[in-house]
Amino acid sequence: MSEQVAVEVDSVTKEFGVIKALNGVTLRVRRGEIYGLLGPNGAGKTTLIRSIVGLIAPNSGTVTVLGRKLPNLDVLREVGYMTQQAALYPGLSVEENVSFFAAIYGVEGGVKDALEFVDLYTRRGSVVATLSGGMRQRCSLACALVHRPRLLLLDEPTVGVDPQLRVELWEQFRRMAADGTTIIVSSHVMDEAERCQRLGLIQYGRLLAEGSPSEVRSQAGTQNLEEAFLKLAGEKKES
Ligand SMILES: Nc1ncnc2c1ncn2[C@@H]1O[C@H](COP(=O)(O)OP(=O)(O)OP(=O)(O)O)[C@@H](O)[C@H]1O
Ligand SMILES: [Mg+2]
Repeated sequence: MSEQVAVEVDSVTKEFGVIKALNGVTLRVRRGEIYGLLGPNGAGKTTLIRSIVGLIAPNSGTVTVLGRKLPNLDVLREVGYMTQQAALYPGLSVEENVSFFAAIYGVEGGVKDALEFVDLYTRRGSVVATLSGGMRQRCSLACALVHRPRLLLLDEPTVGVDPQLRVELWEQFRRMAADGTTIIVSSHVMDEAERCQRLGLIQYGRLLAEGSPSEVRSQAGTQNLEEAFLKLAGEKKES
């Protein structure tokens, strides 16, 4: 695999009983790229992210992350994962949560930077259970990036985050990517999709379309991404 490829997903299939959550997904994400996963509820986005993190073993197909074929425990140190549902310790403070993740990854320092990144430094002493929903989301993000991963997987990271901070976070994601961090992000928000370098449109566990936002628009022959997605998804349904 080329040095320039951060993630290689090859013909991955994952079944949960009769549900085919992933049905032969193949994609490549380049180093330093921001790759967006779009698709309706139940499309397979979270399942795909979890198989890239190595939390799910595919029924068939292979996943290669930062040059190492999964399963591989070493690669975990270089991967950050923000889950769709906040996985925080509600009884601990913001700072204690982020420090806990830093300790798991065996990194010293970085907690203050991560808290400043998500604009929670002044609330570092607050118990997580007492935070607002968006703040909790931001705390999860700080936990996912405190060890400065080379690959960051964000599952709908800005749900509940206010528009101003969302724009700021995306600015930061762009800077991280420019510094070489690879980011895979799922979203239902079209203005976020526009900020990705490439998009993968997923439906019924398959990759429907892939390309830059403008390529996806022109592929569908529409003016905006929302229409493009509805059109591409609709065409597939009919066929
Ligand atoms: N652990 C599991 N056990 C059984 N079924 C599962 C499991 N995880 C996912 N599924 C099923 O796999 C399919 C894909 O789910 P997934 O969570 O990947 O969708 P998604 O694209 O992330 O959706 P959303 O936009 O709602 O987050 C769904 O039908 C879901 O019910
Ligand atoms: Mg999901």
